[in-house]
Amino acid sequence: MTIPKLSFATKVTAFTKGSAYVIGVELKSGKPTIIESAIATDELKKLDLDGFGVKGTFEAVTRLPAPNGAVFLLIGIGNKQLTADVLRELGGAAARNLIDQKELVFGLPTASKTEAIALLEGASLGQYQFGAYKGLNKLTGAKTAKITVVTTHKPATESLRRLEILCETVSSVKNLVNSPANDIYPQTLAGALQKAARGTGVTVEIWDEKRLAAEGFGGILAVGKGSSRPPRLVKIDYKPKGAKAHLAFVGKGITFDSGGLSIKPAASMVGMKYDMTGSATVGHAALAIAKLGLPVRVTAWLCLAENLVSGTSTRPSDVIKIRNGKTVEVINTDAEGRLVLADGLSVASEAKPDLIVDVATLTGAASVALGNRITGLMGHGDAVERLSKAAQDAGESVWHMPLPEDLRVQLNSEIADIANAKFGANGGMLLGGLFLQEFIGSKTKDGEQISWAHLDIAPTANNDLAPYGYTGKGATGVMVRTLVSLAESYA
Ligand code: BES
Ligand code: ZN
Ligand code: ZN
Repeated sequence: MTIPKLSFATKVTAFTKGSAYVIGVELKSGKPTIIESAIATDELKKLDLDGFGVKGTFEAVTRLPAPNGAVFLLIGIGNKQLTADVLRELGGAAARNLIDQKELVFGLPTASKTEAIALLEGASLGQYQFGAYKGLNKLTGAKTAKITVVTTHKPATESLRRLEILCETVSSVKNLVNSPANDIYPQTLAGALQKAARGTGVTVEIWDEKRLAAEGFGGILAVGKGSSRPPRLVKIDYKPKGAKAHLAFVGKGITFDSGGLSIKPAASMVGMKYDMTGSATVGHAALAIAKLGLPVRVTAWLCLAENLVSGTSTRPSDVIKIRNGKTVEVINTDAEGRLVLADGLSVASEAKPDLIVDVATLTGAASVALGNRITGLMGHGDAVERLSKAAQDAGESVWHMPLPEDLRVQLNSEIADIANAKFGANGGMLLGGLFLQEFIGSKTKDGEQISWAHLDIAPTANNDLAPYGYTGKGATGVMVRTLVSLAESYA
């Protein structure tokens, strides 16, 4: 078990040492004021909160003593309405500030089961810490063992189990993504997913470099051939009886992106261990869907390679052949994600699933356009609408971007079917999407393409700015909950 025990309670009977009690503070005509709570706050109401430095602004926290040596955490709600999304963020912000406490008890008001769940979800996501690589400076303090939300809208046991699976899954993705590339490379990442799949009833199949060559996966091979650690393709298939739909997930899994011979500047290379986030996300999301027993078939394809520089690296201007027979001129070896995904999207298309979703830290241009908290969404067919809705339900931000046909000429190649990049082109995120679109297979004889959504998580996969809400520093586990919501929308 990687996450604390999660629970709901209808009331708090006593304050216990080692526990922290989270109470909301609003700004009433500029003055911090305790809001309604299921936890007794009479003592707090007597205090001059201003004098204790209580702010009341959104997510501002102050600790005050509670009875029996316990702790009150006062958290500002600013002037926000306490919606499920706001409660999720507040839960996370409180939990991030209470990592030294054994038990967290939330007394923020919740008006429905959905809100109670969102609050508990945020708290669980927010308490995540990654200590696996600390040596002499081990993380100190009690690890939170239990989180309780006090509410009269107690969700059913199944909702709690679902929440645990979601939070454990996000945590597993973060652990993989935060781990450095000297430990996480194609073979070990494939192995980690295979191990995680034990007991879930899914089948896991792994292609090694020989089989990749025999079966025409020229994109994955071209990106991986500069590394002494050979590439892999992983297929995770969850195939329940009576499945109502078949979803295919494809993940970019570059375990380190140096840029290859089109090498990145030193500063841009830092953080490129995160370039496998898409794969970790789709792999673990498929396992979560299996654990939840949803009546939806999910096939996840993890395209794993390490993009390095050596005498065997792919050169700019090399021409490679993708699984679906299309040839690609590699103008820029740093536009490698689309090469491995081209193979992944091609092979995923072969089973003619109802919908394909790819998840990738694809372009720096996505961050230029969308900042750090919004994922780029592109695609065609009902996939786009479905993904938007699923993201909204999960409380994750996506923004629908266009795939303008006029940009496609920029990827024309003199000698191959398509080029992977063009120097100096505008709309880099869109160009990435347009390239990927070429590898979505058709679902009918008249050539209509399978419904497809592309999630560019380069802006959101990793948070290297200040922590906020339930998002700490480092890997965010973004889009895991959206993919599970997507599957639920078919169930
Ligand atoms: N992995 C990068 C994209 C990236 C950049 C992710 C920053 C996270 C943070 C990707 O492989 C890449 O290098 N893309 C190029 C594309 C270009 C060469 C067409 C980019 O964004 O510059
Ligand atoms: Zn790159
Ligand atoms: Zn990359």
